[in-house]
Parts: sequence; structure tokens; C-alpha cells
Amino acid sequence: MAGTETQKEAFHIVAVVGSLRKGSYNRALLREAIEAVPEGVTIEVFDKLADLPLFNEDIETQETPDTALAFKEVIRKADALLVVTPEYNSGLPAVLKNAIDWASRGSPSVFKNLAVGIMGTSPGAMGTVKVQAQLKQSLGGLGAYPLAAPDFVLPLYKSKFDANLKLTDEATVTRLTAYLDRLRELGTCLSAIREKL
Ligand code: FNR
Repeated sequence: MAGTETQKEAFHIVAVVGSLRKGSYNRALLREAIEAVPEGVTIEVFDKLADLPLFNEDIETQETPDTALAFKEVIRKADALLVVTPEYNSGLPAVLKNAIDWASRGSPSVFKNLAVGIMGTSPGAMGTVKVQAQLKQSLGGLGAYPLAAPDFVLPLYKSKFDANLKLTDEATVTRLTAYLDRLRELGTCLSAIREKL
């Protein structure tokens, strides 16, 4: 009946990209994820990782940078975090690890009981498998819950995107929607034990 139904709030995801370059395939993948989002899910991009200084406890003691505080705040308010990242030398891009280090500080950590989705694409056949394992280890240590299965790796990106960095592969679009749905399921389960505000 009109007026008596409670409006269901959207499931809100904050997303970051581990690549800073303009022509990033991983950034393109995030754009596609935003377009493929299931109904009732929103994605906000936190695009300020490059503004963070290299983590240094001395800086933190003097004054935590505004960007670090802002990053923590958007994570705290979100229902889930989505990390879309390339793999650098079989591991995490420094800019991403730096951001995690800044945001990890404080107790309870904003990562505690947080659902985290991880996506990545690469030109090679492994499609960011190694960096995803590293990220799971790091975030798991903070009490977050990286989505365990299915993983979202997209190998051989040249065969999936066109010259304008648009996905040409319908199966990948379907997979994006399904993955975001799984992330919502996980985040919804965790909301009972997560301190959001
Ligand atoms: C890479 N690249 C890469 N790829 C991969 O699959 N495994 C790896 O270990 C590495 N290592 C690596 C190190 C460094 C320093 C660079 C710059 C690149 C290749 C990488 O996947 C490719 O450049 C992607 O296009 C980077 O992602 P974006 O910027 O397109 O999102």
C-alpha cells in the first residue's frame, strides 16, 4: 500500500582502482562494472589514491592526511568495498597497498567484517591471480571478508576490450553482474556484525 511500504535502501559499494594511468584497462573494467550493476546496488568510486603521501607513522602522528580520513570514512559508510587492480611484479601496486595501510589504522579497523570484492584484468593468461591472493591475505589480516568464490579474473584483456576500452564480450558483462550480486549477498550477511557508523 502506498505510503506504508518502507523503501529499501540501495546496497552501497565504494570502489578503488589500483592503476593511476588514464588508459587503464582495470579502470575500464570498473566502468563496465558500474554499467553492469544489479538493481538495488550502487557503486561510488574513490579516486584519490594518488593524493595520499607514502605511509609514514611520523606523518600520521602529526596529522593524518585529509585524503586518508576521507578514504576511511567512505569505507566506513559503505556496505562493501570493491578493489579493481592490476598485478605488478606478481603483487600489489604500491599505490593500492599504500592506501590500504593508511585506511587500516584505528580500532576497530574500518575493514573489520567488511565484504570485499576483488577484480582484475591483465594482458597475460593469469589475469591477476597472484595479486588477488596477496590482497586476500592482507585484507583477511584486517578482519575483512574478501569474496571467496567465484574469483573475478579477466585474462587476455586485448581480446575482451575494443580500442575505446569498451568490453566487447557479453559473457564478461554477465559475469560482472553476477559477481556484484554475490558481493551484495556477502555484505548483507555481514551487516549484522559490522560496525558501520
Ligand atoms: C606489469 N604487468 C604485469 N601483468 C601481470 O599479469 N603480472 C605481473 O606481475 C605484471 N607486472 C607488471 C609490473 C609493472 C611495474 C607494470 C607497469 C606492469 C602488466 C600489467 O598487467 C599491464 O601493464 C596492465 O595494463 C596494467 O593495468 P592497467 O594500468 O591497464 O589497469
